[in-house]
Formats: sequence, C-alpha cells, structure tokens
Amino acid sequence: MRDEESTMVVPAALGRGGLQSRQRRVIMRRPTVQPARRAARRRPMFKIVLYQPEIAPNTGNIIRLCANTGAELHLIEPLGFAMDDKRLRRAGLDYSEYSRVLRHRDWAAFVDAEQPARVLALSTKGSRSHAAMDYRPGDAVVFGPETRGLPADFLQQVGPDHTLRIPMRPESRSINLSNAAAIVIYEAWRQLEFAGAR
Ligand SMILES: C[S@@+](CC[C@H](N)C(=O)[O-])C[C@H]1O[C@@H](n2cnc3c(N)ncnc32)[C@H](O)[C@@H]1O
Repeated sequence: MRDEESTMVVPAALGRGGLQSRQRRVIMRRPTVQPARRAARRRPMFKIVLYQPEIAPNTGNIIRLCANTGAELHLIEPLGFAMDDKRLRRAGLDYSEYSRVLRHRDWAAFVDAEQPARVLALSTKGSRSHAAMDYRPGDAVVFGPETRGLPADFLQQVGPDHTLRIPMRPESRSINLSNAAAIVIYEAWRQLEFAGAR
C-alpha cells in the first residue's frame, strides 16, 4: 500500500514541472511521505472563489468546507451579507482558525493579488462535466452568486474548456452553492489522493 501510494501520487503532485532530482531522493528515502502531502503543507491545494456571494449560511458552510479540505477561500465583493453576520458565524466560526478567508474588492483585485495559474468556472451553462477535469494544486475554482450565477462575459473569458457543469437531472435548475462547492472540491482533492488528509 505504501509503495502504491507513492507511485500513484507522484505525477499528480508534480503538475507540468516534472520531478526534481532532490525530490526524487527524498521520495526514495521516505516512500511513505507523499510529495503532494508536503506540497499541501506549503500551500493550499485549491482556491475556492465565491463571486459576489449573497447568502451568509452558504458562505459559512464553505468556510467549514475549507477547514475540512485545506482549501483557501476568496470572496469577491460586493457581498450580500456582513462578515459578522450571525448566520455566517454559526456555520463557520468554530473552524475559521483552520482556514484562510480573503476578501477582494472585485475580480481584478483577486487576480492581481493571487495571480492564479488557472481559473475554472462552475456554471449550469457549462458543457464539460466537473468530473472530466484534471485538477491541479493551486487551481482557482470560481462559483457564482446564488440568484444570478456567473456573468456571461466572465464565462466567455474563462472559455468552454474551463467552464464546468455538475450533472443533474433534466428537470433540475441548479445545485445549492455550498453543495456545488463540496462536490467539486472533493472530486478535485480525490484526484490528488486526498493529499494532506488523514
Ligand atoms: C444556486 S447556483 C446559481 C443558479 C443560477 N440561476 C444559474 O443558473 O447559474 C450558484 C452557483 O453554484 C454553482 N452551481 C450550481 N449548480 C451547478 C451545476 N449543476 N453545475 C455547475 N455549477 C453549479 C454555480 O457556480 C452557480 O453559479
């Protein structure tokens, strides 16, 4: 099981860069320590970005999700609630010390501050299944506001290859925002062998 874990995780942990010789030596000396786990300690695996979220309990649930998974949470303003909203605190506060919540005045400020290597958008208008994506550590995964979804020009910029849809029954309109975030982040983290989890 240990050897199997090491060999399975190596490619996912490296992304495009390839394996550095120093990392190779470390892996051979301590095969049970997975490189992706070390990467997870150094930086968050994923950035969850909520674009102008409107409903406090959804964001609270996602704060907890970030604590559960090690993802980093970014909120793009304007927000539909205050950060000291009781409904937000009820869902998220106990766990907030384990996650980072960052606010940005708009999308451009987020890009400026975070320089995301890759942006993935979640939309009911996407045509590519979220499960067909190869996720990478550091991906910025963007979710739209509860009543409006992501703006059309935003989706156009992201492009169809990076606009993902979670399958639903034909009669369904959409999935609750915090459920959608959990579905996608757990799939992304699963692909990285749940690096950093116990
Ligand atoms: C409640 S939904 C917004 C619904 C909005 N009327 C729409 O059609 O986009 C809030 C956010 O959750 C995500 N979401 C919900 N269901 C989804 C699905 N089936 N596929 C992809 N994203 C989904 C999207 O990011 C969406 O912007």
